[in-house]
Amino acid sequence: MKSLTNKRVLLGVSAGIAAYKTPDLVRKLTELGAEVQIILSKNADQFVAPLSLQAVSGHAVHNYAMTAESESGMGHIDLARWADIVLIAPATANVMARLCQGNADELLTTVCVATEAPIAVAPAMNQQMWQNAASEANIATLESRGVHILGPDAGEQACGEVGPGRMLQPADIAARVASLFQNTQLTGKRIMITAGPTWEALDPVRGITNHSSGKMGYALAEAAIEAGAEVTLVSGPTYIAKPERANIVDVVSALDMHSAVMSTIDQQDIFIGVAAVADYRPVDSADQKIKKNADQMTITMVKNPDILADVASRDTPPFCVGFAAETNDVVEYARGKLEHKKLDLIAANHVGGSETGFGTTDNAITLISNDNAIELPRQHKSALARQLISEISKAFNEQS
Ligand code: PMT
Repeated sequence: MKSLTNKRVLLGVSAGIAAYKTPDLVRKLTELGAEVQIILSKNADQFVAPLSLQAVSGHAVHNYAMTAESESGMGHIDLARWADIVLIAPATANVMARLCQGNADELLTTVCVATEAPIAVAPAMNQQMWQNAASEANIATLESRGVHILGPDAGEQACGEVGPGRMLQPADIAARVASLFQNTQLTGKRIMITAGPTWEALDPVRGITNHSSGKMGYALAEAAIEAGAEVTLVSGPTYIAKPERANIVDVVSALDMHSAVMSTIDQQDIFIGVAAVADYRPVDSADQKIKKNADQMTITMVKNPDILADVASRDTPPFCVGFAAETNDVVEYARGKLEHKKLDLIAANHVGGSETGFGTTDNAITLISNDNAIELPRQHKSALARQLISEISKAFNEQS
């Protein structure tokens, strides 16, 4: 996973000459792992071909107009909810003035009013326009509302003048967008996360496992890295990209995971058990492939160690967060695990449906402590992970 993996960037392109650089900007964002959708402002297609942007982003480009047809597809509210960040590049003096006013006069400005996602603008205009008192006041207003101002650069301009107002280079914009997701909630803290399934071998080619994809645990690892933590990710077998900036420890069985966790657990500040660890393993694992000679077969199983409970019962345990995957009475069972395993927090996860839980893109959680319960509603696992890390760091800091 790269610095923008699982991040959804809604790129608004307004009508300025620097728009010709936006196919490159889309490339730079996708190279960092982002998924990019594009809204063209009115007349932006005079400066960049929608087809080029469609080709590099892999998505149909949204036009400025809000028609019955466009709204029947992914309409302005869907786009506003889809975005992890709205980036306007180039941002003309005109579009920034309209943002200040809260205008909702075309798709891009309407999405900006409707979104809860952070907004970043990369201004691009003539140096005199940039230094105009109205532009300066608009920038100050946007900044005071939390809009991130990326640039501008200074130098020779398309109009032949020299001065401030050039759009930043695409690579610089992409890097700054990635850095906006960084925070300092867990700076200097060491976090261990277990993720994915375990594989309990029956013979060299068969085993007992489950449908955990690793998505939730990997998203938490990525969010913890963004929050400044040093992350050790102990992962069962998965088929998705691993976070690039985590220390990865690959394991197969529950016993492997147990010993990998225990080997460095005393160096950790926080432990989060997201893995779907097999509760039992076959007593025997055959050296050779088992032949189908009999009509029936009985497998005798033995209980695996409970990794989370073993971590939480250490003399000086790290701050412990468990997950509880349940199909019914989710909160009640999760509370039982919180108390029984002596955890600080537990994330109650409804599983068994097609929309949340094992293998899904989205998830929903009730985060339970001894005296509180917070609902984190259904959303993309990476967005949910950022919320969870924020709640975990708050609880951790209150305790320490
Ligand atoms: O990987 P994904 O496809 O994204 O799916 C995510 C998920 C559904 C697997 C995840 O959100 C989740 O709910 N993980 C917990 C799965 C689970 O095994 O729950 P449990 O209720 O059986 O276990 C309770 C807790 O004890 C968990 O933190 C588990 O990691 C831990 N445990 C369980 C058994 C064991 N032997 N050792 C453990 O550490």
